[in-house]
Amino acid sequence: MHLKQALASAVDRLEAAEVGSPRMNAEVLLMFVLGVHRAYLYAHPERELTAEEATRYDEVLAQRSTGMPSQYITGHQEFWGLDFVVSPAVLIPRPETEHLVETVLELARDVPRPKLVDVGTGSGCIALALAHELKSARVYAVDASAEALEIARANAARLQLDGRVTFVVSNVLGALAEMGDFDFVVSNPPYVGFDESDKVQKSVRDFEPRMAVFAGERGLDVIAPLVEQAHTALKSGGWLAVEIGYSMRQAVVDLLSPTMWEDLRVVPDLQGVPRVIAARKS
Ligand SMILES: C[S@@+](CC[C@H](N)C(=O)[O-])C[C@H]1O[C@@H](n2cnc3c(N)ncnc32)[C@H](O)[C@@H]1O
Repeated sequence: MHLKQALASAVDRLEAAEVGSPRMNAEVLLMFVLGVHRAYLYAHPERELTAEEATRYDEVLAQRSTGMPSQYITGHQEFWGLDFVVSPAVLIPRPETEHLVETVLELARDVPRPKLVDVGTGSGCIALALAHELKSARVYAVDASAEALEIARANAARLQLDGRVTFVVSNVLGALAEMGDFDFVVSNPPYVGFDESDKVQKSVRDFEPRMAVFAGERGLDVIAPLVEQAHTALKSGGWLAVEIGYSMRQAVVDLLSPTMWEDLRVVPDLQGVPRVIAARKS
């Protein structure tokens, strides 16, 4: 079969399986199987697939047709211009989380040798993007999932940042309770409430780690202890910066007591939806 024919029948198959953006998915998966860039697909439409390539393409199309995200099939996702490996043990990094990285970079501009911790690091995307940008920063990355930390460690090594980031298995900031000298506590915690489960995309519900997405009945079971423990972990004047769900602004603001936190900022995403809340320990 020619590459062009293989693509056309893959598009039909993904369409029939109700996979969104079938053409883009068919291309991404063929690029993955052949180990080529998109331009190659267009430059060589008559290229014959070997029997082995055709079988492998068939397998990955079958996986994608179950709704499995293409990133778990290819094992990669770009974030902050860096290539991250991902597995079903970690949330797939989302572009909107780059707002959190931007917010912290802005706040860290005048902090010499900032010490920061990323809580719920998953793939390590936030901690490693920040370590990449802030060359003098000392970075800690914690997660309650040891499996997720394995992926984060692998990403640190691939990005040659492993000497700069310390990985710790921890329930929120519990394992770092002795330290109280952080300049930044940063987190994209799980924040979907069990009662909002039906509003989450099916592919997220079915394939992404439950503990990376859901946090109790109202979605606050990790954010609430995080706000409390961050206050202890931060030095005076240090910043907490957290990604929040589209409807959580008030609930999170209510957790930030004005006697303990000041300079509250809410950062919207490109659609104007509140996406990041930052506050300074007073
Ligand atoms: C929404 S994901 C964020 C992953 C990554 N930081 C990102 O932005 O793509 C939340 C992460 O928090 C971790 N997590 C959940 N509960 C936790 C807890 N109690 N303490 C520490 N980490 C937790 C999950 O394992 C998951 O990796």
